[in-house]
Amino acid sequence: MCGIIGYIGSENAVPIIVEGLKKLEYRGYDSAGIAIYGKDGFDIVKQKGRLAALDQKLKENPRSATMGIGHTRWATHGEPSDINSHPHVGSKSKIAVVHNGIIENYKQLKERLEQKGAKFASQTDSEVVAQLAEYYYRGDLLETVIRVSNALEGSYALGIMSLDDPDVLIAIKKDNPLIIGIAANGNFIASDVPAVLKHTNQIYYLEDKEITVLKKDSVAFFSIDKEPISKMPETITWSADSAEKGGYPHFMLKEIMEQPKVVRDTINSAVNGANKAIIDEINIIAYDKIVITACGSAYNAGVVAKYVFERLCRFSSIEVELASEFRYKDAVIDDKTFVILISQSGETADTIAAMREAKSKGASTLAIVNVVGSTLAKEADFCIYTQAGPEIAVATTKAFSTQLILLYLLAIRFASKMGKLANADQNELLMEIEALPEKIASIFLHVDDIQKYASVCVGYKSIFFIGRNIDYAIALEGSLKLKEISYIHSEAYAGGELKHGTISLLEENTLVVALANCERLYLKSMSNIEQVVSRKANVLLISSQEETQADKRLKFIKLPEGNELFSPSLSVIILQLFSYYVAANKGLDIDKPRNLAKSVTVE
Ligand code: F6R
Repeated sequence: MCGIIGYIGSENAVPIIVEGLKKLEYRGYDSAGIAIYGKDGFDIVKQKGRLAALDQKLKENPRSATMGIGHTRWATHGEPSDINSHPHVGSKSKIAVVHNGIIENYKQLKERLEQKGAKFASQTDSEVVAQLAEYYYRGDLLETVIRVSNALEGSYALGIMSLDDPDVLIAIKKDNPLIIGIAANGNFIASDVPAVLKHTNQIYYLEDKEITVLKKDSVAFFSIDKEPISKMPETITWSADSAEKGGYPHFMLKEIMEQPKVVRDTINSAVNGANKAIIDEINIIAYDKIVITACGSAYNAGVVAKYVFERLCRFSSIEVELASEFRYKDAVIDDKTFVILISQSGETADTIAAMREAKSKGASTLAIVNVVGSTLAKEADFCIYTQAGPEIAVATTKAFSTQLILLYLLAIRFASKMGKLANADQNELLMEIEALPEKIASIFLHVDDIQKYASVCVGYKSIFFIGRNIDYAIALEGSLKLKEISYIHSEAYAGGELKHGTISLLEENTLVVALANCERLYLKSMSNIEQVVSRKANVLLISSQEETQADKRLKFIKLPEGNELFSPSLSVIILQLFSYYVAANKGLDIDKPRNLAKSVTVE
């Protein structure tokens, strides 16, 4: 939620900051702004709406400076407007600030500052940071940032410039991500790596309450007690191209198409690569309960995993919980509980809180994360990385698919350690997983068919997704994907549940997407479909079973055959493509759906 960037160096900061913001726009896109040094003080340009509007404004009136800060916003306090956009300055326009996070005690601070004469311009919590910094500033910006940080409660990643210090940019973070990039042409702060990848792959990850002082050709780190800290940069292996659209109309389509490769990379990392040693290290027999917790699509991956873990490990207690619920429910867990947290960003506030809650009760934690160096990755007891590369589209696709892979492989490894899986069975399951990338690629041969069918589905007011067992788990993901990017009302139901209420909603103008990949339950699923067809609803059937005569009344998409446990990895590709093309046919902004942001760093 909100992306920040800052640059200090030898080149014009304006295009560098705007380019960086384009890579961060997935974090928020209701307004954007930039601050540089002008002739008579800060030159601040802010604009409600997409970044393109700010870009246009800057192109109409080009400016130049060698240091600046920029921001793309997802509103929390105060509506999206020019005034509420960042950067914010204090009443004297002496200090400019960009902020990602929430200042929880902003009301108290604002009241105190107003009593001392500060005049607030916006309704944001963030402005309090700039006002407070001006109030404390006595000529030493580092000292000021320390005092400000000590007064703030809540979460923040901050980029701060002072009018008196034209060659210093300062950054600090707490509970929100911030990276520092060092390049030949200057130094950067950013909310995420893709914003600076074009310039450098040498990245420092800031820890909470660490402060960075950036100059044109140096970067220094300090603790909150002003003690110098020595840090080592990490080399990022993601290429700059991986954060570009590469000729596709949307990042989402590009990311869907990348799945054979990233699934293959993730399998390799867990079977022969860096993730293997970590998976092997986990002594699962020491635990009597597994809890999987996450948000949104990552939670849906957890629901799939619950079925796979139950089937393979026969563990007596496996729970899957929404992280936003888990964190406050006073869960019955202890040091015999193994908690798995799933997250693309590694920065989702609820998932981080769930991890901290689990750790405080003595549980062991494993994070399955895509973004290297993120908070979950650093704080969990164990961390394995999905090899999805940067995911830019707000709706997750490739990160979800790679999460499934690591979860399957964990389940197999755990089952084998628990003595529930013979070697031969383990090898057979591994072969099934190894075959997935090719099977996913084979689905792409039918893209035209899916696209054509999606184009006639744009008019539906409601689309339901049904399935039994593991098909139900993936139905949840299909429904979420559709509603978030196409804005069509959608719900997912366990096939057997329809008749307990939801069937009353079925009529001629509804579509039911039915998944039927569980061989054991195929006939039961077909009975559910009969009930749907009798209510004159239309049906899209996705199944690995051969088409029967009766199916001629339905739109049928055949999945490649294979072990049903791993069928979600195949059916989800069709569900992603279906949602994508429905939204594309409606002409929607697929990569940036309304009201959403990719990284949900607030509650
Ligand atoms: C849906 C989607 C979200 C995320 C959720 C968790 O397409 O992307 O539901 O899955 O916000 O985010 P991460 O995985 O970053 O914790």
